[in-house]
Amino acid sequence: MQEPTPELEHQNTSTRYTRVAIALHWLLAMGLIYQLWLGVWMGDIPKTPPGLRAEWFNWHKSIGIVLGLLIVLRGLWRLTHRPPALPDTMPLWQTWAAHTSHALLYGCMVLMPLTGFLGSSFTAYPIKFFGTPLPRLWEASADLKEVFSALHTACSYVFMVTIAVHILAALLHMVRRDGIAKRMLP
Ligand code: HEM
Ligand code: HEM
Repeated sequence: MQEPTPELEHQNTSTRYTRVAIALHWLLAMGLIYQLWLGVWMGDIPKTPPGLRAEWFNWHKSIGIVLGLLIVLRGLWRLTHRPPALPDTMPLWQTWAAHTSHALLYGCMVLMPLTGFLGSSFTAYPIKFFGTPLPRLWEASADLKEVFSALHTACSYVFMVTIAVHILAALLHMVRRDGIAKRMLP
């Protein structure tokens, strides 16, 4: 077995996440909650007069692409920096719940921008990134657009429920003052 590098060893025995992990967690938490709200809200914008709905949709797409890039960065950081180990005193079911919910959150973080981007890439309109049209990758397809849109919506429900559970768990840890919440605080 290969010896762990000093950096990984340090992260594993530390009691908190690295500064980069904390910064990315909070930046993405704010961005993702805004984006989820925006996605739901923009669906109710009337189609007439034309323009307003498209403007907000393009804003959602641009923010979504930026969040997607930040998520790639976060994923790379996570793969190269082990999170601090959970305390030995923590009940097994809580360790399991933490690992499962974090895996679900990461899964949704990957699927949300991906399904959004793919769905939009199959419409007849170009994706505009802060006003600049991105090159078309393939032919428009109403069927594929439907499939990815449905996945985008379904995944957003799973994401919202998991985030709600995650926040409740974090608040519970804060009330119990067991040191878990501090691990993700600057
Ligand atoms: C972090 C990323 C993202 C999150 C959390 C997110 C969230 C959402 C939510 C909650 C909805 C409303 C779903 C519904 O009520 O049906 C939505 C709709 C939509 N999103 Fe996203 N989105 C993300 C990224 C993207 C990206 C990158 C694009 C395109 C480049 C995109 C394009 C769309 C479009 C076109 C809709 C309208 C419904 C549809 O046609 O699917 N989204 N999004
Ligand atoms: C969109 C919103 C959020 C997402 C997607 C999210 C995602 C995540 C993920 C994936 C982790 C695991 C990090 C890892 O081990 O690699 C994590 C940890 C954590 N999050 Fe969040 N988070 C969100 C919002 C929040 C909020 C609002 C709070 C506080 C109220 C919070 C508190 C924490 C804490 C305390 C940890 C550390 C848990 C531990 O030490 O095991 N998160 N978050």
